[in-house]
Amino acid sequence: MQEAEIVMLEESFAEVVAVRDEAAELFYERLFVHDPSLRAMFASSDMKEQGRKLMAALSLVVGSLRKLDTVVPALETLAIKHVGYGVRDEHYATVGKALIETLSLFFANRFTLEHRRVWTLAYETVATVMIAASNTSGVRELLRRSS
Ligand code: HEM
Repeated sequence: MQEAEIVMLEESFAEVVAVRDEAAELFYERLFVHDPSLRAMFASSDMKEQGRKLMAALSLVVGSLRKLDTVVPALETLAIKHVGYGVRDEHYATVGKALIETLSLFFANRFTLEHRRVWTLAYETVATVMIAASNTSGVRELLRRSS
């Protein structure tokens, strides 16, 4: 991604961090509207904890783009952890949709088409690495055997 696009993401991410609890509430509300079955996956945390985890996820998305090569191993480890949570490939699109809706509701008319394009590209870049990692090295088979 271009430097100007990454700076745009960093600036909007900083605004989201400032209201993390509200952003998390909105995000999970949108996520569970699209797929109520995902509720069970997040059942154990309260909203503060959820907010912290959402910000960790977004920080990883924004922070990975300048050094994708070096963060790929960490993303792969994270992806394998996600397989263990029960995350399937199709859930990545649902989370991406809920993320864009959350940003769009939060920023309202300040969320330009360019913001939408850049956030979508960033999320899809990281999600693609994670999905690929979940499907290599017999990860699913190993988890199936160990459960
Ligand atoms: C680009 C995509 C994603 C990124 C960067 C990401 C990142 C993260 C991070 C950093 C954590 C915190 C890990 C920890 O504290 O141990 C986390 C937790 C989690 N993520 Fe993701 N995630 C992504 C997509 C997804 C998707 C598609 C799902 C499925 C709906 C999902 C479900 C979860 C769950 C269930 C947890 C644990 C929550 C808990 O312990 O309460 N994530 N994710």
